[in-house]
Amino acid sequence: MPNVTAEERDGRLRHTIELEPGEQVWLCRCWKSAKFPFCDGSHKQVEGKVAPVGVKAPKPSDEK
Ligand code: FES
Repeated sequence: MPNVTAEERDGRLRHTIELEPGEQVWLCRCWKSAKFPFCDGSHKQVEGKVAPVGVKAPKPSDEK
């Protein structure tokens, strides 16, 4: 599981997620996840087509 930190800046909560090389996470975009900022599948209960966004850290061997 990646290291996640949260800080409030200018009245807004900001998350920083540190990924290991090759690690992938799915981030919530519906604001319904109990594991925010990560997706827990709750978007399936939300009307519309909202879905998580996947973020993957490249492995050193992936770099060009
Ligand atoms: Fe929010 Fe999946 S739970 S996008």
